[in-house]
Amino acid sequence: MKDFASLLLLLSAFLCGAELQTQAQQAAAPAPSSPASTSTPWWKNAVIYEIYPRSFQDSNGDGIGDLNGITSRLDYLQKLGVDAIWLTPIYPSPQVDFGYDISNYEAIDAQYGTMADFDRLVAEARKRNIGIIMDLVLNHTSDKDPWFEQSASSRTNPKADWYMWRDPKMVDGQRQPPNNWISDFGGSAWQWDPARRQYYYHEFYVQQPDLNWSNPQVRQAMFDVARFWIHRGAAGFRLDAITSLFEDPQDRDEPYVLGPDGQPRIDAYGDKEVTNIYTDNLPEEHDVLRELRQASEAAGAHRVVLIGETYLRSINDLRKMYGANNDELQLPMDMQVGFINRFDVALFRQRIDEAETGLDGDEPLFVFDNHDNPRWDRYQKDAAGAPAFGYGPHHDDIGRVIATVLFASHDTAMMYYGDEIGMVTTPPARKADVRDPIGIKGWPKEKGRDGERTPMQWNAGPDAGFSSAGVNTWLPIPASYKTSNVAAEERDPESMLHWYRQLIALKKNDPALHEGEEIMLNTADDHVFSWLRKTANGEAVIVACNFTAQPQTVSFDLSAQGVSRTGLKTLMKTPGAPEPHSIASVELGPYGVYIGQVR
Ligand code: GLC
Repeated sequence: MKDFASLLLLLSAFLCGAELQTQAQQAAAPAPSSPASTSTPWWKNAVIYEIYPRSFQDSNGDGIGDLNGITSRLDYLQKLGVDAIWLTPIYPSPQVDFGYDISNYEAIDAQYGTMADFDRLVAEARKRNIGIIMDLVLNHTSDKDPWFEQSASSRTNPKADWYMWRDPKMVDGQRQPPNNWISDFGGSAWQWDPARRQYYYHEFYVQQPDLNWSNPQVRQAMFDVARFWIHRGAAGFRLDAITSLFEDPQDRDEPYVLGPDGQPRIDAYGDKEVTNIYTDNLPEEHDVLRELRQASEAAGAHRVVLIGETYLRSINDLRKMYGANNDELQLPMDMQVGFINRFDVALFRQRIDEAETGLDGDEPLFVFDNHDNPRWDRYQKDAAGAPAFGYGPHHDDIGRVIATVLFASHDTAMMYYGDEIGMVTTPPARKADVRDPIGIKGWPKEKGRDGERTPMQWNAGPDAGFSSAGVNTWLPIPASYKTSNVAAEERDPESMLHWYRQLIALKKNDPALHEGEEIMLNTADDHVFSWLRKTANGEAVIVACNFTAQPQTVSFDLSAQGVSRTGLKTLMKTPGAPEPHSIASVELGPYGVYIGQVR
């Protein structure tokens, strides 16, 4: 530990010398592009756009998206108003988990391009005030990573203790895994290795062995990786599976999750569900986050943002991820809001209010969509209340509601490519078409994640403008591309794309929507979700979202919030909705949205 601290001091002294900064270092983060003061970190109230590189833009006709493809679309992203792009892993990988199984942390997978392509992407993005956020997978590597190959080679090699190796449990003379821990991707989390004659632990696929984070050498090696990418211009990291770094040192069996019949519940893979109390969110992870924050600040001169993939159970758990002294993650993802997955006004109000008031003033990061979950069309429901993917009767209205909750809240907003054109979840129809191994294993209960990873729909031309590979794109292009694509939406001022652009522009430029506090309104209403954004200077904006398929009329009285004005200037509203005259009466159609400045 002592050695680590002195190393950091040395490094920061070295790197802080401005004359020593490389061009890439200067590109580490976008300049503040917001109306906030320049001392405000660039990522506060910003918009982060997640790209799944395989699916965004293919520049060489092999059917797989690549870095040059992303670079060619930067003008589009700039026009949309994004401040940073998070790239899911682009490092060399056997692609068992499409890049989340990394075999070399300091290079680019040839199918995505070269290091020169990466440098060009960073530089071109920088010109447009867009930062590049890398995905840092700390919990595990690929089994083809030389670290693991060495670790598996014997019990005595220098990396023998870099992974989670355990002796078998012998029951009646039979070899058994050490305990009942199961993989998130199905089956026992323990894999027998005949060479070492030991099991190794893998929270995800067998090909993704977990690193041993109790080993200081592992920490050093991974902090080196972080420094490597900061020096190449990364604006930050999205830390994959960050709450999974540690496991119970006593290897205790997980308690089972019991169903109503008192028996363990069975998951999509046929395993008994466990609680994960011994394998998730252990307190030791906070030491690592503090060390990583120090390392990244020293290397990135405070411009680098740490984002966490943090599926947590409560606001209290989320608050801890910022660190007791604000010295851990700047932006742990708040999955409590976007993944409510149904239009429940009371729950949205409660969770967003908790984020506003329960994080000690820290910035929440809201997110509705990513490459692991069905897209926002899941908020459409069938008669039984199950998600109804596709273009339902209220598809666009629902999309406008979700975008409004995301961008008009007091938060940093994270969106997923294709959200802005209303792309829908398109799961494979047949097991034979599934690419994601969890879909192959869990079919038909678990169809995998292909449905939310289909190629970006740019235009109505061949391959939707994504590729020139013909039928050979890595995932099929949904038939909807003919009518639902960027080019078509560009031409239609009432399209989802224009809604997103206008909302993002307001988030950046309207002082109340950019940084105003968020106060819940009409808190007894369980049909319409309404809130006020208000600055210390008195600027005030009301936002109302109808969470139902029936028309609603709402009335506001803002005297309790210290606003005596009652006039309204409309900033945005669902196309075709009537213009309100005052805050006393705002009419909303089915899933209608109204945003107006109070004057
Ligand atoms: C994260 C990623 C997911 C991946 C898993 C294992 O949850 O978002 O795509 O499969 O980690 O790395």
